[in-house]
Amino acid sequence: MNHDTVIVLDFGAQYSQLIARRVRECKVYCEILPFNASLDKILEKQPKGIILSGGPASVYAKGAPHVSKELFELGIPVLGICYGIQMISYGMGGKVQKAAKREFGLSPLKIKDHRSLFAGLPSTLQAWMSHGDHVTKLPAGFKVLASTANCHLAAAVNEQKRIYGIQFHPEVVHTEKGTKIIENFVRKVCLCRPTWNMDAYEKTAVHQIREQVGNGRVICGVSGGVDSTVTAALIHRAIGNQLSCVFVNNGVLRLNEAEQVVAMFKKNLKIPLHYVNAEKQFLDLLHNVSEPEKKRKIIGRTFIRVFEKAAKDQQRKKGKFDFLAQGTLYPDVIESVSVKGPSAVIKSHHNVGGLPKDLKFKLVEPLRELFKDEVRELGERLHIPYDLLWRQPFPGPGLAVRLIGPITRLELDILRRADAVVQEEIKKAGLYHSIWQSFAVLTPLKSVGVMGDERTYENVCVIRAVHSTDGMTADWVKLPYDLLGRMSNRIINEVRGINRVVFDITSKPPGTIEWE
Ligand code: XMP
Repeated sequence: MNHDTVIVLDFGAQYSQLIARRVRECKVYCEILPFNASLDKILEKQPKGIILSGGPASVYAKGAPHVSKELFELGIPVLGICYGIQMISYGMGGKVQKAAKREFGLSPLKIKDHRSLFAGLPSTLQAWMSHGDHVTKLPAGFKVLASTANCHLAAAVNEQKRIYGIQFHPEVVHTEKGTKIIENFVRKVCLCRPTWNMDAYEKTAVHQIREQVGNGRVICGVSGGVDSTVTAALIHRAIGNQLSCVFVNNGVLRLNEAEQVVAMFKKNLKIPLHYVNAEKQFLDLLHNVSEPEKKRKIIGRTFIRVFEKAAKDQQRKKGKFDFLAQGTLYPDVIESVSVKGPSAVIKSHHNVGGLPKDLKFKLVEPLRELFKDEVRELGERLHIPYDLLWRQPFPGPGLAVRLIGPITRLELDILRRADAVVQEEIKKAGLYHSIWQSFAVLTPLKSVGVMGDERTYENVCVIRAVHSTDGMTADWVKLPYDLLGRMSNRIINEVRGINRVVFDITSKPPGTIEWE
């Protein structure tokens, strides 16, 4: 089935992806394109509506992002948000000026017209504002729909052209009934059908995988994380045993992690998994390496070598592979001017476990259109256990970047056991799913202690816990003192080699989430 599509043109707003997600929550397919996408490229998508995102620029500033005026003559409904309404005004002959007072935060929005965009909404609602410029004169043919105390032209429409502009941000949760406003735009103005959901997505994806792969064979590297597991499960549903999955133990996994991944594939998913225990190979190469980027490079390179060998072994047994499956998500592929999703940024900085581009496989990337929360929803449909779907992110180089200084097997083992205590206690306290990442770090720093009557001289362990929405920024979590106390007691009592536990109270920026 063809789904109706809405396009978000991105002017560099931090909220562009959020707009797209809100549209999709209305069961309408939505894609993001850069503001300067050509009209042809936009029309190729056959959009039933176009949303102009916010952005940090001033429309009159030198080099400010602009859209072509023809966009407003296509006969396709347009909704301009924040910078978007200023763009409409600029492009259609209105006026934009610096506001006397910058407006930031919640303002009561008084709605004057309850048709279409504001249908079914109260006469006043709290709207989230974040702007320095505002529209001071609407283009001809526009009328005001809503105002705030500081911003008379907070929402406006040209009914004949079905072009709407709003100065506030309906996509953020702070705006009351914001999703309803977006829903009104896509359903009542653009007349999109609500057909986009994970049921439909799964069926289409299964069909497309079958079409793409034909009788070919697919190899998929799995890490035990959400993306690769959902990728494997979806492809397996489509082509069954034409798929081979490979899981590499790189020696820097957490306590019992390899066993858990193997058991999950076998018991829950019933997908055959080729388990490669390459611990020795990785740890021999990592032995005594201290420099973080060197650790990453060794792990990255070795992974490629091990994976290629595993692929060859499997090919000998089962026949040639034609395709490589990857758990690429939508934020990684958005061609956009705004800050990309965390995974894209992380990958460009220090990706490990990625495969080289010249690998002689064609790619199967069935999650390319999905946001992370949609991947989780799809994962639920594919019977992937809840705990895995909501697992905290874990970096590719694993414990190697949480063991500060030279890597030794002994110290990795100490860290692994301390980390297990942190995981266990955070879970017991019911905090695991509300925290972005929580873990232990082992430092090479030694301090003096007493245990019983004996002097000890052992390593300092750090507890780290952060709240974040995308890994780009993070706040340290104010863990309850008694929980910190329990973790500290248990680590010192149960893990030989640690005699002092400290708690990291650094946010990002200026710190980073990982210590290396
Ligand atoms: P930082 O430490 O840069 O981490 O604040 C941000 C997020 O990225 C994860 N991270 C990595 N993920 N390979 C990965 O796949 C890496 O080399 C890597 N380094 C950091 C980190 O766990 C956090 O979620």
